Amino acid sequence: MSTLWIGTSWKMTKTLAEARAWAEALRDHLGGSAPTGVQPFVIPSFTATTTVRGILGDHSPVLLGVQNAHWEDAGAWTGEVSVPQAKDAGAQLVEIGHSERREHFGETVETTRRKVAAALRHGLTPLLCIGESAEVKARGGSAAFILAQAAGALDSLPAEEVSRVVIAYEPIWAIGEKGRPATVEELVDPFAALGEAYGGKVAGLLYGGSVNLDNAADLLGIEHVTGLFVGRTAWRLEGYLELLRIGQEHAAAL
Ligand code: PGA
Repeated sequence: MSTLWIGTSWKMTKTLAEARAWAEALRDHLGGSAPTGVQPFVIPSFTATTTVRGILGDHSPVLLGVQNAHWEDAGAWTGEVSVPQAKDAGAQLVEIGHSERREHFGETVETTRRKVAAALRHGLTPLLCIGESAEVKARGGSAAFILAQAAGALDSLPAEEVSRVVIAYEPIWAIGEKGRPATVEELVDPFAALGEAYGGKVAGLLYGGSVNLDNAADLLGIEHVTGLFVGRTAWRLEGYLELLRIGQEHAAAL
């Protein structure tokens, strides 16, 4: 049975008190073990990394991540955080190349390639986000575009290292307040393309973008999808717990 990854990035939200309340309630709910067949993960802001690690403990079934990390280990890079620093703060996973970082902070295929390599070098799991714009989708270029993003970041790596990477396909047109939920039909072809290129070769092929409690089960049913990467719906702990329950139910039926 393959594991379903169900996780959330909090983006730039939550005070330490809010982070603490969410993490404590999750820890208490799980009681030390993940729902069967599910790999939970949470990606707070940098400021909350050590706080959440402290609450979850060192042996938590919930993987802890950061939303970005630099490709160099240390040095004169004002405002940046390195993978060794993220690891030191308790992170096990590094989100790389989210579309908001590509759009607003100059992330490119080349920087995602370097960051994936840095995460792997230090034993952290890279969570590589890829996704096309509405314009690319409108001209029928979705699959080619996301395959190029993934290949640029991954294809120079040996197979063993690729096997430690998680890919999240998050079409830009489906993300956040300005996005609209994708239909299952719209996702079949992109996942077929990703499945052909990376199915069985990476640790996970996740879907993200306006995942909610109504569409989560259907999204998990798409061929090659092995998890969900969630924003808004999981920021309230009740939403995240419900997604974990949906994931567990889906895993049990596989
Ligand atoms: P959303 O965010 O679930 O709020 O649309 C998804 C994401 O950006 O990963």
